[in-house]
Amino acid sequence: MATISQSNPTVPLTKNEHLLRWVEKMAELTRPARIHWVDGSQEEYDQLCEEMVASGTLIRLNQDLWPGCFLARSDKSDVARVEERTFICSLSKDTAGPTNNWENPYEMRRKLRGLFRNSMNGRTMYVLPFSMGPVGSPMSQIGVQLTDSPYAVVNMRIMARIGLPVFKEIDKDYKRVVPCLHSVGVPLQPGQKDVPWPCNSEKYIVHFPEAREIWSYGSGYGGNALLGKKCFALRIASAMARDEGWMAEHMLIVGVEDPNGQKTYVAAAFPSACGKTNFAMMVPPEEFKGWKVWTVGDDIAWITPDAEGRLRAINPEAGFFGVAPGTSVKTNPNAMATLAKNTIFTNVALTPEGGVWWEGMTEQAPAECEDWQGNLWTPEIGKKSGVKAAHPNARFTAPARQCPTIDAAWEDPTGVPISAIIFGGRRADTIPLVYQAFNWSAGVYVGATMGSEMTAAAAGVVGKVRRDPMAMLPFCGYHMGDYFRHWIKMQRSLTVTPRIFHVNWFRKDNNGEFFWPGFRQNFRVLKWIIDRVHGRTRTKETPIGWTPFYEDIDWKGLDFPRDKFEELQTVDRPAWKREVISHEELFILLHAHLPPEMIYERELLICRL
Ligand code: GTP
Ligand code: SPV
Ligand code: MN
Repeated sequence: MATISQSNPTVPLTKNEHLLRWVEKMAELTRPARIHWVDGSQEEYDQLCEEMVASGTLIRLNQDLWPGCFLARSDKSDVARVEERTFICSLSKDTAGPTNNWENPYEMRRKLRGLFRNSMNGRTMYVLPFSMGPVGSPMSQIGVQLTDSPYAVVNMRIMARIGLPVFKEIDKDYKRVVPCLHSVGVPLQPGQKDVPWPCNSEKYIVHFPEAREIWSYGSGYGGNALLGKKCFALRIASAMARDEGWMAEHMLIVGVEDPNGQKTYVAAAFPSACGKTNFAMMVPPEEFKGWKVWTVGDDIAWITPDAEGRLRAINPEAGFFGVAPGTSVKTNPNAMATLAKNTIFTNVALTPEGGVWWEGMTEQAPAECEDWQGNLWTPEIGKKSGVKAAHPNARFTAPARQCPTIDAAWEDPTGVPISAIIFGGRRADTIPLVYQAFNWSAGVYVGATMGSEMTAAAAGVVGKVRRDPMAMLPFCGYHMGDYFRHWIKMQRSLTVTPRIFHVNWFRKDNNGEFFWPGFRQNFRVLKWIIDRVHGRTRTKETPIGWTPFYEDIDWKGLDFPRDKFEELQTVDRPAWKREVISHEELFILLHAHLPPEMIYERELLICRL
């Protein structure tokens, strides 16, 4: 990262005519008080944080306890992604598909121009260049975000490579840049006092896949505002990937090292708030001497077939925007070490010592703290009112390089080879702990029919099961049926096809308790998956796929009786018949674009049941 800071940030940092003209045009539309070209330096970051402390957007934490850390409290209405306000404005509605909100792009542009007109009055417009993926990697992509949110700028500095090196890349050769326009939608009149978290009750998160453009209005939170993340690295990138023969997926990436030093890389797609960060930083149970899990990424994978016909993946991000509640030294010690310094917390509780706290961080809650909205909170108040100290979707933004288990190859410009793909959802019943798909197309069916109970990561009903194919329902930038077709087609560019698995850490017993202890114990399942990849273990054939024998899971150090395991692994035929019927709900919606493989796989599954 460059450390030279611009003495005068109003001087443009590029010579790229297209970029200069676009910035000028957008400034004419949004009319900011000033323009700041972001160089990405530490000095600039420090100064922005300083200004936000002064304006009340950030609270500086106790620097002895939390060096370099800040707390932000969002407006209480701006706490998660807003799927019903997220649009894919392709030229035709049919390209966006029935699972995306669509509006005519010409009309949407007209509407957006109206909303953005003068929307940055009284504010600074930051010109923020970012690289998704290591700067200069052939697998990376570049965007430029114009934003009136300094909070977005400092978070993006953690989440992506930004500033001078990226401008240099843009100037080097004519590189296509994805323009991203973002405004919180709260213009300031002369003399008007700002609020700590400006946002507008009207929100629009809009993608133009053909033009490869993003316009985001009204929100300052997470995926709505850090436009390199879900908007670019998934929605726009998935459309690029379809056209160019690669994949942009909502997946973590880990490298599993065995006691002989052999490393096997695995990618896994679980829906939002279903355990990717936890899995990506897993510490194997103590009994597994010599085994290590290395972290490449915790949320997004860009995957490309190489010249040898193997899939290789990069993590396009440089930081973790992780769920805070439930994160502790016990559940995820590596996340706790990662977020110990230089981290921005959003919507967690503030302790009287100037530290942070959230539900599940420690066994005992602090005697007293300020909740995520700044109100007095005690365990008694919490019990009586049901109010949580931290918002369920409270997050930390932390640099990936601070992760103790970050993989040596995490910034390798050619990525890491992927040997297995794991799908998983949050399911209280029906779905066993683990099974392996019979082959690639059966595996694509498994991913395409994934279901999960909804979580607090998006506004909406929590707990209801919905189909979330490949954990991409809110993130696919085009028709889901075409997306399945793209998955099917990918196999043709491969000579080594990754094995595909499905896991479920969340099955419940008759008392409503989780069957499976989860977290680091998931390593036992991961080890079985690695053994399968290398052909080191046998399996049992069931109607839904291959499953492990009790003896083939390594149980040392865990008392998990055979009958409980059999119950956890049960493939209940009547329940599965109902499950297949519910697959149909989504398939009916998508039918005109569904690849025939999905129909045949479903028929075969029904026959086996
Ligand atoms: P996004 O950042 O929204 O994409 O989420 P994520 O998939 O990275 O989810 P994360 O790892 O942050 O987990 C979210 C929630 O799942 C937390 O409340 C965890 O405590 C819980 N969780 C993670 N792993 C397990 C597990 O193995 N078992 C159980 N029961 N809960 C888990
Ligand atoms: C998710 O919801 O899957 C996230 C958080 O990773 S956000 O960046 O807000 O999309
Ligand atoms: Mn995510």
